[in-house]
Amino acid sequence: MLKLPGNLDAEQFLARHWQKKPLLMPQAVDKLRPAVTRNELAWLATLDDVESRIVFTDRSHDRVRYRAETGPFDEEFLAALPARDWTLLVHDVEKHLPTMRRLFDLIPFIPDWRIDDLMVSFAAPGGGVGPHRDNYDVFLCQGIGVREWHVTSDDVANDPHASDDLALTTEFTGEISHECRNGDVLYLPPGVAHWGTAHRACLTYSIGMRAPQVSDLAETLPDAERDDVFYTDENLQAGEARPGYISEIAAHRAVQVSGAGDSGLEQMTQALGRFATETKQWITPVSPDKSELGEIVAALEAGKTLRIHGMTRIAWSDDAVFVNGGSTERPPGSRQVLENLCAQRKLQLPSDAAPAWHGMAAWMAKRGAFEYVK
Ligand code: SIN
Ligand code: CO
Repeated sequence: MLKLPGNLDAEQFLARHWQKKPLLMPQAVDKLRPAVTRNELAWLATLDDVESRIVFTDRSHDRVRYRAETGPFDEEFLAALPARDWTLLVHDVEKHLPTMRRLFDLIPFIPDWRIDDLMVSFAAPGGGVGPHRDNYDVFLCQGIGVREWHVTSDDVANDPHASDDLALTTEFTGEISHECRNGDVLYLPPGVAHWGTAHRACLTYSIGMRAPQVSDLAETLPDAERDDVFYTDENLQAGEARPGYISEIAAHRAVQVSGAGDSGLEQMTQALGRFATETKQWITPVSPDKSELGEIVAALEAGKTLRIHGMTRIAWSDDAVFVNGGSTERPPGSRQVLENLCAQRKLQLPSDAAPAWHGMAAWMAKRGAFEYVK
């Protein structure tokens, strides 16, 4: 877990900062591990199923301009990048390099279904994406190198010259100005403007959240009053987070945000579970064919341990299990098994597992939950 500053504990962090106020956490981690290298990141950016961008900073005019190009990139193009003023950003790194998921252990007090992805950026000196706001909470964890951050909770005007894909604000200095080094972490709630520029070539690991808008839950909420508002949980309690668990409290919050009236909590949990485990089309694990499925099920029945596929999103609630946007009934007595499965990303059915658990595991396998190793 992060070492929070000033003797804050997780409960105090949630009460004072989560979804409310930025927090700079110098040396919140001894050394950020696991890490990726600049070369690994560049290799990821050459792959078709990896979402990547390069943002170039152009300082040759009266004002600084930013320009984005989207990947995948050729190896030659990456090798020929200039010495300064660009940053390469790679999304969903933990889905492609599953060991990187261990960085999520830094924030055990946040329910993991709220985590969207680990984005890693490598910035050459002078590189950065420009001043902007994000819609979601983020923990910006500094790896090697030095990056200067500016953060402000003030209303900052949009930059009228910026292109739509970058949605920049005008420049500012802000209430936090800090040179982040290896192990420093910056927490930002949604909508807080920020801006990080590499002073020395650096790697930054962003643990980014996701939250549904009411429109994402629309099928469940025909009578919702507003559909453009985001799910919020500023009253989150540290004890709520349990690996993979979507609690009834979370469903209550979603109902409140939507103004849809307190009926159908179970339906709301279903909608949240499907949303939380929905995968992006290009990083959805392929479902096994019939003979592969037979082998996976046989392996499970023989008591073998199967690993959850790096791209699989998985969650569970009091009544249901969710995998990659689909759901099935949760077998009685399966809480601990599911919690372990979500924490360790592997499943070994106990020898006395009830038939319903086998049914659940077979359903998971069909949805591409497991790594298939021949
Ligand atoms: C970055 O890593 O350069 C950008 C992260 C962010 O501002 O959200
Ligand atoms: Co940002």
